[in-house]
Amino acid sequence: MCGIVGYVGPETPSQRPLEVVLEGLGRLEYRGYDSAGVAVLTQDGLAVAKRAGKLTNLLGDLAAHPLPPATAAIGHTRWATHGGPSDVNAHPHRVGDIAVIHNGIIENFAGLKNELLAEGAEFLSETDTEVVAHLLERAWRSEGDLTAAMLSVVGRLEGAFTLLALHAGQPGVVVGARRNSPLVVGLGERENFLGSDVAAFVSATRRALELGQDQVVTITADSVDVVGFDGEPATAREFTVDWDASAAVKGGYDSFMRKEIHEQPTAVADTLRGRFDTRGQLMLDELRIPEAELRSIDKIIVIACGTAAYSGHVAKYAIEHWCRIPVEVELAHEFRYRDPIVGPRTLVVAISQSGETMDTLMAVRHAREQGARVLAICNTHGSTIPRESDAVLYTHAGPEVAVASTKAFLAQVAACYLLGLFLAQLRGTKFPDELRETVAALQALPDKIQRVIDTEPEIEEVARALADEESFLFLGRHVGYPVALEGALKLKEIAYIHAEGFAAGELKHGPIALIEEGQPVFVVVPSPRGRDSLHSKVVSNIQEVRARGARTLVIAEEGDDDVVPFADVIFRVPQTPVLLAPLVSVVPLQIFACALATAKGLDVDQPRNLAKSVTVE
Ligand code: F6R
Repeated sequence: MCGIVGYVGPETPSQRPLEVVLEGLGRLEYRGYDSAGVAVLTQDGLAVAKRAGKLTNLLGDLAAHPLPPATAAIGHTRWATHGGPSDVNAHPHRVGDIAVIHNGIIENFAGLKNELLAEGAEFLSETDTEVVAHLLERAWRSEGDLTAAMLSVVGRLEGAFTLLALHAGQPGVVVGARRNSPLVVGLGERENFLGSDVAAFVSATRRALELGQDQVVTITADSVDVVGFDGEPATAREFTVDWDASAAVKGGYDSFMRKEIHEQPTAVADTLRGRFDTRGQLMLDELRIPEAELRSIDKIIVIACGTAAYSGHVAKYAIEHWCRIPVEVELAHEFRYRDPIVGPRTLVVAISQSGETMDTLMAVRHAREQGARVLAICNTHGSTIPRESDAVLYTHAGPEVAVASTKAFLAQVAACYLLGLFLAQLRGTKFPDELRETVAALQALPDKIQRVIDTEPEIEEVARALADEESFLFLGRHVGYPVALEGALKLKEIAYIHAEGFAAGELKHGPIALIEEGQPVFVVVPSPRGRDSLHSKVVSNIQEVRARGARTLVIAEEGDDDVVPFADVIFRVPQTPVLLAPLVSVVPLQIFACALATAKGLDVDQPRNLAKSVTVE
C-alpha cells in the first residue's frame, strides 16, 4: 500500500535520480495507483511534480515540463487513505524547503493538525502526511539537520508509517524512518537507494539492507547510517536480492497476471527445489525451531488474509491428514482481536506473499505475545513478517506484480505441503512409503500445472462467451472448497462480477435458492479415485443445480466420465492425489477470471480500489 522510492547519487546533478525513482515507481505501482509524485533536489533547490491517477499521468506532465538535473530524489505512488485521490492530496507534500512522502497512517494526525493550525500553519491537502511535513520543517529550523529533525518528529507520531524526506538545505541526503511499514535500503556503487520493497531498485543492485522496527536511516551517495528512534546506532542485516529484475516486466504478455499464471510451474518447482535429500527425505533446516519442539506441537493455527488464507484452508486438510495435529485457519484480523487459546505448544503459521500485510503482522505479534511459536511462509525477503517470526519458510515464486495473487498462491500451497510432510516425517505419523509416494506426486506437479496452462485457449473462449454474465457461483468440497472460494475471489477482484464460493454440501442449506435458469455455476470435482463418496457427492451437487436451470462449468480430472452427462462445459485437469489437487484445479479458474476481465477491457493488473500490499489495518 503506497510505494516509496528514494535515491541519492553523485554530487554532479544529472537526470539519473529522477530516472531511478520513476523506474522504481513503475515497479511499485502495484502497491497503489491513486496518484504519483516525485521531489528532486536540484542546484536551484527543491522541485516537486505530482498528479492524480496512474503513473502515466505524471510521466506525461514530466515530458511536457521536464525537471532540472538533480542529486537526489524521492517518489511515491499512492493508495489513498486520508483524503481522496487528487493532485493536491498526492505526495510529496512540501512545506518550505522540505518534501515528504509517506506510507501508512498517522493515527494522531488530527490532534497534531489542530496544534499546528493554532500556531498558524496553513494546510493545502486533506492528508495526514502534510502534518509530518509541517512538523519536520519546524524541527529542521531548530535542528538544522534532517536526521535530527526526523528523530525529533517520529517520537510524536502514532500509527504505522514509512517516511522519506529531503531538504533543499542538505543536497545529497535522503532520510527515512519506519514503524510498522516496510522500508529496505539498496546498496550501490557511489549511489544508494530506499524502497518499500526491493523491486524499487532491483535493476540497479542486488545488495540490500533490512531495516528494523523504529529505525531512522540516512543515505548519501557514499554512506548509509541507521539509528533507532532513540538516536542510538543500530544495525541492519544485509541480504542479497534473489529476484531477477526481468521477472518484474511483462515480457511479451498482455498482463502481469497472465504472465504470472504462466510462471506457476516454475514457482512451484522453485519452492520445492533443494528441500529434499537424495532419498526423498525432507530437509527444512531453515525452520530454526528445534525438532523436539516441532514434535511436541499440539495445535497449528494458520493466520493470513485473502488468497493467502485460502492456501491455509488447503493446508488444514493436508496437515491434519498427514500429521494428526488439529489445524485452525483464521483470518488474521479476526484472530488479532480475540482472546485466542494459544500456548508454547501451539505453532502459528503466518502466510503472506508480501510479508507486510498489516493485519497479518499484528496477528503475528499477538500470537507471540501469547507465547506461541510463529512460522512465516513468505515470498519476500527483507519484509517484516518473517523478520518478526521465529522461523520462515520462503516460497520462491519471484516477484508477483499483478494485484490478484496467482503464482504466490500456488507457491504458498506447495510450502504448506512441505511443512505438513516434514512434520509427518518428524513425528512418524505416516509410513515412509506413503510419504515417499506423496513426495513423488508433489514433485510431478509442475508438469501437470503446465498441462492445465496449455488448455488456456479453450478456457479463454468460454470466458469470452460469458463476459456479460452478472453473477457466478463456485462450489467445491474438501480441498475443493477453498479452491471454489479462490475462484470466486479472483472473479470479484479483477472482473467486478458478483461471485460467491460455497462448500457444495452447504448448497441445500440456503444457497441453492439463488439458482435460476441460466445461472453459471463452477463446480470443482474431486478425483474419482479419492476418498470414498466425496466424488459421487459432488457429482450429485452438479445434478442438483443443473436440475434447477444452472449452466454447469465443471473442473474434473482427465478420464472422469461421470461428470459428462451433467456438465455444460468441462475443464480437464490431470489426475492428481486428492490432497494435492488444488495446485491443478485452481488454474482454470485463474485463467478464466483473467480472460473474462480482459474481454471486458478492464485493467487486469490494477483493479479498482485495491493495492497489492495492504500495510494498513
Ligand atoms: C487476492 C490477493 C489478496 C492477498 C491478501 C494477503 O488476489 O492477492 O487477497 O492474498 O491481501 O496478502 P499477502 O499474502 O501479501 O499477505
